Amino acid sequence: MSWGLRNRLDRVLPGLPNGTGSVMFAIDHGYFMGPTSGLENPRETIVPLLPHADSLMLSRGILQNSIPKRTNIPIVLRVSSGNSILNEDLSNEKLCVSIEDAIRLNVSAVAFSIYIGGAYEHQTIVEFSKLVNDAHSFGIPVLAVTAVGKDMNRDLRYLSLASRIAVELGADIVKTYYCEGFSDLIAACPVPVVIAGGKKVPELDALKFARNAISDGAAGVDMGRNIFQSDSPENMIQAVRSVVVQGVDPKEAYEQYKSSL
Ligand code: R5P
Repeated sequence: MSWGLRNRLDRVLPGLPNGTGSVMFAIDHGYFMGPTSGLENPRETIVPLLPHADSLMLSRGILQNSIPKRTNIPIVLRVSSGNSILNEDLSNEKLCVSIEDAIRLNVSAVAFSIYIGGAYEHQTIVEFSKLVNDAHSFGIPVLAVTAVGKDMNRDLRYLSLASRIAVELGADIVKTYYCEGFSDLIAACPVPVVIAGGKKVPELDALKFARNAISDGAAGVDMGRNIFQSDSPENMIQAVRSVVVQGVDPKEAYEQYKSSL
């Protein structure tokens, strides 16, 4: 691994060298969902949370228009798109941001969705592989957002299949969901794995699965809705941080969350 790639990877996931978890804050949802609940005014929601996140995953447009230019937070830029929630099949994605623009935006990593078992599996795999060629030639790490076909369960069988394929294609970070038997997924996936939060669930439940993922070997969370759709996004990101980075028990972190409401 080149010096630049290693350095950027450690900036995106600063817990890696110490063996602790990292908090990547995912706010890229609007690229196919538009003004998602909780992110209607991106700047207003995101800026107060920046001091509590290790890195930020987002689209080019929100980076340019809603994030202060004088921030040091490492950026993980979504570079695939091609769908909106108005279409039934969400897997028809291609590379939509050039590596030159990603470099101009001073990003620390790029993120691309592959749809394993989806209608556009082949297209997303080939596009992803080409992105790895380009990004690695500039020392930029690539995060694979792994999605499985819409008829497939988000269970160990399919999530592990998608995650391993991402590694085989050259991913530097794999993003997946937490599932039963997660430690087997980690064992088969020799790069850092981060978990998405998925749809909003009660805060304590989100803190518990974040803790379980770290205990099972995840390198961190790449969480969005369970933070920005919480009653108090600022308290919630701090609770997630204490569980993922400081190893605080989820129940204790939840009590802290409630007491500061
Ligand atoms: C999909 O919209 C994105 O890649 C999200 O970043 C990802 O699903 C993580 O966000 P959440 O925790 O809301 O699932």
